[in-house]
Amino acid sequence: MGTHDTSETNEFSRANRSWWDLDAQDYHERHGSYLGTDHPHGEFYWCPEMLHERDLRLLGRPQELRNKKILEIGCGSAPCSRWLSHDVPDAFITGFDISREMLRHAGTNHKVSLLQADAMALPFQDNSFDLVFSVFGAIPFVENSAALMQELARVLKPGGRLIFSITHPMRWIFPDDPGPAGLTATISYFDQGGYVEEDEETGQLTYAEQHRTMGARIKELIDASFVLDQVLEPEWPQDLTETWGQWSPLRGQLFPGTAIFIATLN
Ligand SMILES: C[S@@+](CC[C@H](N)C(=O)[O-])C[C@H]1O[C@@H](n2cnc3c(N)ncnc32)[C@H](O)[C@@H]1O
Repeated sequence: MGTHDTSETNEFSRANRSWWDLDAQDYHERHGSYLGTDHPHGEFYWCPEMLHERDLRLLGRPQELRNKKILEIGCGSAPCSRWLSHDVPDAFITGFDISREMLRHAGTNHKVSLLQADAMALPFQDNSFDLVFSVFGAIPFVENSAALMQELARVLKPGGRLIFSITHPMRWIFPDDPGPAGLTATISYFDQGGYVEEDEETGQLTYAEQHRTMGARIKELIDASFVLDQVLEPEWPQDLTETWGQWSPLRGQLFPGTAIFIATLN
């Protein structure tokens, strides 16, 4: 794993870095099977609705990805990149995350180049990648996601593709509860603030997650010279009974939990 001295660019990055460092062990104990942590080749689910890249091929078919340079942002223990590197052995895959502890869970038995970095200061040259993707990584956590979209446009080659999954923007209006309490809207969809936690004694920021409306996410992409190809809003599968944090069959049958954006750089 490489290190880079831009792994903490502001108080939001510092807070999220220490939060994910502290949570890494627990996160992998809770979600190990979904993440494929124990599987040498990882797993590539796009979302708690359990859509697998093997079935969707959102990144492209294996033969189309041969020799391509691919970047995963906020990769955590890189289950998706590890799966992809096994599926397409001749692609050049790089993953980065701000949390060293999340990266540590990736182990070493794979061909993915991993490094520690902050999404707000990418340590890559212009036009470096054919494809950038993310599965709930970095994008929902940075303070300035518009600037992040510009950064991603910078490191992508013209015609390159960006594909990322995040919590569906409409989930913001409900309490983070998988049960009935999570069915009643309590927060304005139009409030583009974020959810933050602070240390009671010092007042220091300890966790931050941001909300953008669907329109704002699309505008950030367009302003960064992307053409939006598709937004997927996966339905909850009938036979999926597992609850993942605030994602549950109860809520999933009523409204979307995930949005997957697919865009091409002009
Ligand atoms: C929900 S986890 C998802 C991890 C991984 N994509 C997965 O599917 O298991 C979010 C990840 O985003 C990372 N992250 C948060 N802010 C970041 C930033 N500014 N730069 C890079 N990574 C960041 C966290 O450290 C964490 O590993």
